[in-house]
Amino acid sequence: MIEGHKEIDAPAGVPVWDVDPYDSAILAGPTDYYAELRSKGPFAYIPRYSVLACGRYDETKEVFSDWERFVSSRGVGLQDFSLEEPWRPPSIVLEKDPPDHTRARAVIERALSTRAVRQLGESFRQDAESLIDGLLEKGVFEAVEDLAETYPTTVFPNAVGLQEGDRRRLVDYGSMVFNALGPDNEIRRDAMARGPDVVPWIMEQCQRERLKPEGFGAMIYAAAETGEITEEEAGLLVRSLLSAGVDTTVTVLGSAIWCLANNPDQFERLKADPKMALWAFEEILRYTSPVHSFCRTANLDTEVSGIKIAEGTKILCVLGSANLDEDHYPKADRFDIDRRPSDHLALGVGIHGCVGQNVARAEADAVLTAIANKVGSIELAGEPVWRPNNSVHTLDRLPVIFRGK
Ligand code: HEM
Repeated sequence: MIEGHKEIDAPAGVPVWDVDPYDSAILAGPTDYYAELRSKGPFAYIPRYSVLACGRYDETKEVFSDWERFVSSRGVGLQDFSLEEPWRPPSIVLEKDPPDHTRARAVIERALSTRAVRQLGESFRQDAESLIDGLLEKGVFEAVEDLAETYPTTVFPNAVGLQEGDRRRLVDYGSMVFNALGPDNEIRRDAMARGPDVVPWIMEQCQRERLKPEGFGAMIYAAAETGEITEEEAGLLVRSLLSAGVDTTVTVLGSAIWCLANNPDQFERLKADPKMALWAFEEILRYTSPVHSFCRTANLDTEVSGIKIAEGTKILCVLGSANLDEDHYPKADRFDIDRRPSDHLALGVGIHGCVGQNVARAEADAVLTAIANKVGSIELAGEPVWRPNNSVHTLDRLPVIFRGK
């Protein structure tokens, strides 16, 4: 065993690569690592963790979406749940395969339906506008704390129906969930140390009696009333929303400001046509891949692109690299909101594709549209600092200046 999964040999034809994908410097600035990974071929064997890594678009998509051969129920991080017990009861949607996954997914999809999310649009827009007005008044501000963390931790707990939205604990729980998918390194240990304070609080917020009668949470509990799921499962689905819905949107909003500040021509394009906000969002997702890597486990002996893969193999699917694959996206290293990359892998693909994407789009649309309508220019006011995280490529600090129109 190694990092909670079966140790494997390098399959024939796969280069051995002595790299640590969880090294802090790589996590903070992964572009060169992504390029080298793609140059190795369809897969590289990384002995340090005994995993196969894939970072070309085609293979990453194949492995990530083929749930019959590459399962999620054995964990989407390095640990194999069939061999080792995870730190928390597994998610009944992200960490399950059909038919269990199908049942839970139907409930959560209904709660987060296009209609339910559309109803939140107006309040999302109002919150975004007053946030941007406040930041324009400040002029110079810290975009991670004052914008990227503030917005989702204001609108999302409300949409779920939480009584209280404790920003620090919500962000820290996301950090635990995503860092836990990596190896037992310092980054993971630091995040997990917050558990005693954060986990009981999160679990309490997921209880039926704590949730407001309107909101995604109550809609999920409605399915427990009809017997579609149990009350305990409803609590775990609300937990899924809090696990997956905060850090990801915080990350993408920080990255959005980073992209626009670094590409003033693209910001001009967005200002000229604020209806491009949603396409800008897709390009921000492709270009920055908030979720940089997730794993799958081969559930049988199989083959991909002529490479034999043994049962039990952990495959590190490097979404961040696949989204920058030149063979799929010409001039992939250019941020271009006219690219309209509707097939990027940043929100996953196939049966596990992000079930919260309507919510993420609604939040991003509200914020980007408010910025396009109100902000004249965005400038960096200092060096951006990236925060190493075992699964999420996220900013730690981003000092910027907003000037009005
Ligand atoms: C831009 C923000 C977001 C990004 C980049 C993102 C990314 C992803 C990715 C890559 C997956 C696929 C995981 C896999 O296949 O193993 C996923 C699944 C999921 N996402 Fe998101 N997500 C975002 C926002 C959200 C939000 C706002 C919510 C909740 C409202 C959410 C809830 C979920 C859930 C519950 C799953 C599991 C779905 C399943 O397994 O069927 N996500 N997300």
